[in-house]
Amino acid sequence: MLTARALAQPNIALVKYWGKRDPALNLPERGSLSITLDALWTRTQVSFDAGLGVDRVLLDGRDWPEGLARTSACLDLLRRLAGSRLPARVETHNNFPTAAGLASSASGFAALVVAGSAALGLHLDAREMSILARRASGSAARSIYGGFVQMQAGERADGSDACAIPLPGGADWPLRVVVAVTSSQPKAVHSGPGMELSRRTSPYHAAWLATVEEDLAAARTAIERHDFGALATVSERSCLAMHADMLASRPALIYWNGATLECIHAIRELREREGVEAFFTVDAGPQVKAVCTPAAASRVAAVLGGVAGVQEVLVSGLGAGARLLAGTEPTA
Ligand code: DP6
Repeated sequence: MLTARALAQPNIALVKYWGKRDPALNLPERGSLSITLDALWTRTQVSFDAGLGVDRVLLDGRDWPEGLARTSACLDLLRRLAGSRLPARVETHNNFPTAAGLASSASGFAALVVAGSAALGLHLDAREMSILARRASGSAARSIYGGFVQMQAGERADGSDACAIPLPGGADWPLRVVVAVTSSQPKAVHSGPGMELSRRTSPYHAAWLATVEEDLAAARTAIERHDFGALATVSERSCLAMHADMLASRPALIYWNGATLECIHAIRELREREGVEAFFTVDAGPQVKAVCTPAAASRVAAVLGGVAGVQEVLVSGLGAGARLLAGTEPTA
């Protein structure tokens, strides 16, 4: 049996990814920029074994048929590289709700690529792993790296330059992310089909895409200078421009609930009335992520925890990239 274990963390995009230029190769229309978290994680063990017959995926100890097709497709890419046809057993654990807009696919596929490639004896570098993770999920390409990360859209038709790169400048800038969980239900429309819907039907899609290059440059400069106010401005406008595109899709993609909007107002008020260094971002789900300075984290967590409809508040720092773990776990 060929086995390896890996750990990866979700990332939160500050300049968003919403649109594919090639759905088959999962190539993004534009770049994006994210921070990798440390308190949330996915731990995945991959074991290739001829005796299994077919691939099997377990999430938190239970068979997970919904995750099988995408997992097998990702494993196929690894098997092709290794010249292997061995089926695999994948056991994965998240310490946060799956498929609720907390980027479980980002950490999940980053961990799968790191563990799966090691189990097959492939010696891939981070760039190669980022490209393979991107094939499974665009945001997973970013979770290969820690800290501040930029996804490059690339220009080549084969996607060989569509990978993430770690950004300089942020290494000694400790930020916190306060996640307000407003629902633990899986989202109605997953990101992949959602962004395809926006690309095909939203009259705002081209306008959304036109914001990204400028926002990437502004975010990079803010990170280099540790300019919190500038990072807040660019992150909130990128998030809201993406949601404008989602809302203008036909039929509309409304990922927010009432508590999502209340959290947004609470964060803006904290900043404007009390000068608290915090800004919001929201992905394809109803959770709100407040990015703030370490000094502001407890105040932000207390305020968001008091918003009606907020079920749970998680506080995280910025984490390292995906990595192999020593040893294996007993298999059920
Ligand atoms: C709104 O990476 O989940 O979170 O490539 O289809 O797997 P696929 O999409 P995914 O999309 C993430 C969209 C987002 C914004 C972001 O993380 O940049």
